[in-house]
This record gives sequence, C-alpha cells and structure tokens, in this order.
Amino acid sequence: MAALCTVNLDPDVFPEPEKFKPERFINKKGELFGYEKVYASFSMGPRDCLAKNLGKMEMFLFLTTLVRNYDIENEAGKPLPSLQGMSRGFHVAIPYQVSLKKRD
Ligand code: HEM
Repeated sequence: MAALCTVNLDPDVFPEPEKFKPERFINKKGELFGYEKVYASFSMGPRDCLAKNLGKMEMFLFLTTLVRNYDIENEAGKPLPSLQGMSRGFHVAIPYQVSLKKRD
C-alpha cells in the first residue's frame, strides 16, 4: 500500500506542507484551484478509491456543517494544536482537545 503522505507532504508538490495555508487552494474571490493535487488522498490509477466522489462530498458536507454550526476554539490558555502530525501507519494528527460552541 502506498504511503500517500509522501505525496501530500512533499514540499515539491506543496511548499511548507506542515503549514495551514488555505490560499493553496482558495483564491481571493473564494474560488477553488489546484485541488486536483489532493486526489492523491484517494490513491491513483485503476485501483484508486471506488468511492472517491462520495468521500469528497461527505468530507465537504461534514466540514462545512461543522464550521457553519459551531465556533471551534482551542482550550483556554493552551496553544493551538500542532500541525506536525505523527505516523501510525497513516499520517495522523497528534491528539488535542477543542471546544465546540453551538452558534446561535
Ligand atoms: C475520505 C474517505 C475515503 C478515503 C480518503 C479513501 C481512500 C482510499 C484509498 C487511498 C484507497 C486505495 C487503497 C489501496 O492503495 O489499496 C481506497 C480504496 C477503496 N475505497 Fe476508499 N476512501 C474513502 C472512502 C471510501 C468509502 C466511503 C467507500 C465505500 C462506500 C470506499 C470504498 C473503497 C473501495 C471499494 C476501495 C478499493 C478499490 C479497489 O481496490 O479497486 N472508500 N480508498
């Protein structure tokens, strides 16, 4: 199985891969561009993810629903979670806690 994080975290593909930079994919008009690069997350070629379109729609719905309905904050007095990540077979986030406050 390919380690897809070697693509997704390749600085030749995504400069400063550990940094949160929405401007990689969203221009000043709010339009998406260059996002086809992240297709590596669903692998490539004839054995890529059979449900990649479903997966992308689900991620969009899940994340937009979350940020539209909740204010997400880090624990008071604690630093923001690290974007460094750790390797557990997959490249995963280091555990952290956040609070979700329902928006009015
Ligand atoms: C965000 C969600 C998902 C991600 C990131 C993802 C990612 C992947 C990746 C990387 C592979 C290739 C694994 C390999 O190299 O062998 C794969 C294969 C596959 N995925 Fe997904 N997947 C997701 C969701 C789903 C869902 C929801 C389904 C089914 C409803 C699904 C069904 C499959 C199937 C059937 C394969 C095997 C395709 C084949 O071997 O020909 N995936 N997926």
